[in-house]
Amino acid sequence: MTDTSTATAASVPLAPRALPLLGHALPLLRDPLAFIMSLSDYREMVRVRLGPSTAMMICDPDLTRQVFLNDRVFDKGGPIYDRIREVIGDGLSTCPYPLHRRQRRLCQPSFHPTRLAGYGAVFARAAEVKAGSWRDGDVLDITQEMMTLTTRATMETMFSGSLLAETMRRALADTSTIVTAFFRRMMTPALLRRVPTPRKRRYDQARNRLSATIAEIIAERRADPTDHADLLSTLVAAVDEESQDGQKQLSDTELADEALTFFLGGMETTAITLAWALHLLATNPDVQRAPGRDPSGPGRAGRSTPRTCPRST
Ligand code: HEM
Repeated sequence: MTDTSTATAASVPLAPRALPLLGHALPLLRDPLAFIMSLSDYREMVRVRLGPSTAMMICDPDLTRQVFLNDRVFDKGGPIYDRIREVIGDGLSTCPYPLHRRQRRLCQPSFHPTRLAGYGAVFARAAEVKAGSWRDGDVLDITQEMMTLTTRATMETMFSGSLLAETMRRALADTSTIVTAFFRRMMTPALLRRVPTPRKRRYDQARNRLSATIAEIIAERRADPTDHADLLSTLVAAVDEESQDGQKQLSDTELADEALTFFLGGMETTAITLAWALHLLATNPDVQRAPGRDPSGPGRAGRSTPRTCPRST
């Protein structure tokens, strides 16, 4: 088997139908899933060209394992991470290897088992409210429905009930603009990314405003550090006893990067997973009718889940 850390680019086959200058950007933008699936026939690795850059696609489970486990060699970086860092800085999911251990130690208390039940209750309440707003026969954009559900629930788990309705509305709108623009910006060459189109202006405004909103929330929390039983409280209070440089707590910039990481990283992933779960339930009525489990304990009889499912997905 190939060792991914020593493979040279020339020894790896290039995916078919690369266009001059654009490379594989068009099929990736038009139908990313179909394009990625078409690469699974390659046994180990395949090269994909994104404009002037080349990416290596790993197609083999053992090689994938090497890449995930050897984070000193396969550190996070390159043009895709650069684009993500424009928004979430050096948070836990984007920071390079030398920063990662410290950030892990500081973020871990936020996910302590004693905290999880509280987050779960917030999500369960949000799900009840959302499902309660649907009526039989409604035609729903289920991805959008799940995005609003997870964005609101994530905001509440992170910042408890302390946000003003206007702040929440602004953050929701800015997040939606950023997420929509994200993928396209990743694929656009640097020169074109600087062209001041209306789309770019909207993206820049949304990014700056969301950063300012998060900075505002952090400043308020620093001024009133009592435990609000939310993610931000645990991040503000976290202490790294193993700190080598005397920086035992997260700075304001680090706090903002982590808050944006959890917010943006936890929202779309969860929304898309839920949208697919609902789609599968809607297309498998037997499973949908089967008795569900009581979420408060394994094996206990409970209500069917979900109570309602949109007719159209
Ligand atoms: C179904 C939902 C989710 C999926 C499919 C998902 C997927 C992933 C994947 C594949 C990674 C590894 C990325 C890599 O190593 O490059 C990751 C890491 C991460 N995710 Fe998620 N995620 C989900 C939910 C969440 C939520 C709810 C949060 C925050 C509240 C979150 C925050 C993070 C963070 C901070 C990391 C980086 C961890 C580290 O490097 O130590 N994710 N996620």
